[in-house]
Amino acid sequence: MTDLTSTPSAYTGPRRILSGIQASGALHLGNYLGALKRFVALQGEGAPVFVFVADLHAITVWQEPDKLQAQTREIAAAYLASGLDPARSVIFPQSAVPAHAELAWIFNCVARLGWLDRMTQFKEKSGKHKERASVGLYTYPVLQAADILLYKATEVPVGDDQKQHLELTRDIAAKFNTDFNAPGFFPLPEPVIQGPATRVMSLRDGQAKMSKSDPSDQSRINLTDDADAITAKIKKARTDPEALPETVEALEGRPEARNLVSIYAALADQTPAEVLARFGGQGFGAFKPALAELAVEALAPVTAEMRRLMADPAEIDRALARGAEQAAGIAEATVAEVKDLVGFWHRP
Ligand code: AMP
Ligand code: TRP
Repeated sequence: MTDLTSTPSAYTGPRRILSGIQASGALHLGNYLGALKRFVALQGEGAPVFVFVADLHAITVWQEPDKLQAQTREIAAAYLASGLDPARSVIFPQSAVPAHAELAWIFNCVARLGWLDRMTQFKEKSGKHKERASVGLYTYPVLQAADILLYKATEVPVGDDQKQHLELTRDIAAKFNTDFNAPGFFPLPEPVIQGPATRVMSLRDGQAKMSKSDPSDQSRINLTDDADAITAKIKKARTDPEALPETVEALEGRPEARNLVSIYAALADQTPAEVLARFGGQGFGAFKPALAELAVEALAPVTAEMRRLMADPAEIDRALARGAEQAAGIAEATVAEVKDLVGFWHRP
């Protein structure tokens, strides 16, 4: 990246927390621990929380039109079921606020090709045939910057894989502020990558991230899995033959053991050291059933509530409509300021 990000932010506006999850396919334990649970934890932090369903991002790869709306509702259901409260937080679908696309266009003209060429997620997602990927997949991180800066968000809770997109967001904010001679207009948002589970790994391979695109369903725990499926997947999770160590340092070089300890810690709101203080010296024969029981206990209420909400989407739709209206008010004000700075015509 450029060194623009080392410029101290002149932004003096209020703190705002914002994040989103793509409306594409099922949620898994990585999303729950790395994102959903973190959003809920930040809800009582004294700054407003904005969470949206990234359906504009979802269509950067093909989505069946008759499924997309249900996918959007499912993410919204997961937000509500995890404990996000529509009376306290702004929960909305991205496509319901046209300003996201509007600001993204302007940012397309601020961001440089060289910056996007460095984005590793595009390289991973486009695979061997990048000429066949959508243009949207390439400019995906520019839209993400618009999502964040429309609300002048100062903190963005995400999993570890989003760090590079946040750096790009800061570069776009800094360049916009410089180009349009508006120091401090946009904040330089900070990624909030915290907790023991910022990178939950596959249950089959401690070197690979838990992901919805992994062909093996055994590699992940889905938020729709029932207690038996969760227990079976944890019991079959890959491990090494050693007992759990007494210290966190001794997990070095044991990615599968480290992953299961991190998952336990995140689910139990403990540190990995506390988990090892209890389980150090014990084998996986003892640890896995305890982890399975904890996972079922933590996830069952969330999945049950998601199912209840999905059975009658009226409650979800009410929350989304209310959130969209609140979000649009803020977003439109930012776009009006941006248009003035850029020099666009506006109604006298
Ligand atoms: P996505 O499903 O790619 O839209 O991701 C939604 C959120 O979940 C983002 O904040 C990701 O960083 C986070 N996330 C996705 N996979 C994982 C994982 N394996 N571990 C931790 N966080 C994750
Ligand atoms: N790119 C994010 C992901 O895949 C989702 C996302 C879109 C997002 N816009 C955002 C996250 C804005 C945080 C802020 O996980």
